[in-house]
Amino acid sequence: MPSLGVNIDHVATVRQARMTTEPDPIWAATLAELGGADGITLHLREDRRHIQDRDLHLLGQTVAVKLNLELACNQEVLDIACQARPYQATLVPEHRAEVTTEGGLDVVGQPRRVTDAIERLQDAGILVSLFLDPDQAQIEAGVETGATAIELHTGAYANATAKFSGDEELQTLLQASHWIHGAGLTVHAGHGLTYRNVRPVAELPHMHELNIGHSIISRAIMVGLEQAVRDMKQLIGGTVACQGVGDKGGTACPPA
Ligand code: PXP
Repeated sequence: MPSLGVNIDHVATVRQARMTTEPDPIWAATLAELGGADGITLHLREDRRHIQDRDLHLLGQTVAVKLNLELACNQEVLDIACQARPYQATLVPEHRAEVTTEGGLDVVGQPRRVTDAIERLQDAGILVSLFLDPDQAQIEAGVETGATAIELHTGAYANATAKFSGDEELQTLLQASHWIHGAGLTVHAGHGLTYRNVRPVAELPHMHELNIGHSIISRAIMVGLEQAVRDMKQLIGGTVACQGVGDKGGTACPPA
């Protein structure tokens, strides 16, 4: 069974919507671990739109499972990664205007830049994975870089399954996983995976790690919302005392 890396970026996205302290991705990481996550994934973007440097720092101290840091080949963020030394780094492309990571990293077009980034990370003792489209030329170029793993971008498959059968895209992922494994690298996958479409990807041969964020955090809002409203009603009604709220307020207010 592939391992599950839970991407907690979207928890930070909700926090940054108000520039406040809640919800805290550190809490989310702890709960994900309690739920059985094999890894915690976060993306420190150049524009810091969700995860902040403080999050990476604290997660480095608190996460007991594998910490997987997504980052672009950007010197400033590479410096921070080399200092933080997560278990694994996944190199991704980054464009300021994008809503989420669109497309895989272009290794073919910038092999030197990618190889330099990998060398820096590996010198700091960090395993490196490359986020690539299931494209033969990109995978062959990725294999040449010395990375340990390739994470297949499952966005095209996810979009296809949302509209019609994703069989063709699944075949593409299958072929790509054979190329990666055949070259001696570890196969990861992620992006757009949901409770509905994850199974065929999880069953692909050689699949070692799945990184999933949006769908899990979306579900968490739904399965946790009922309890959250109930807790608030109890507090408003005075049937429980509000405890543990510091100066900043926040979510630290479980029913007594
Ligand atoms: N893997 C990588 C490399 C990503 O950039 C993302 C999105 O941040 C994911 C996995 C998770 O994608 P999703 O949030 O759609 O599950």
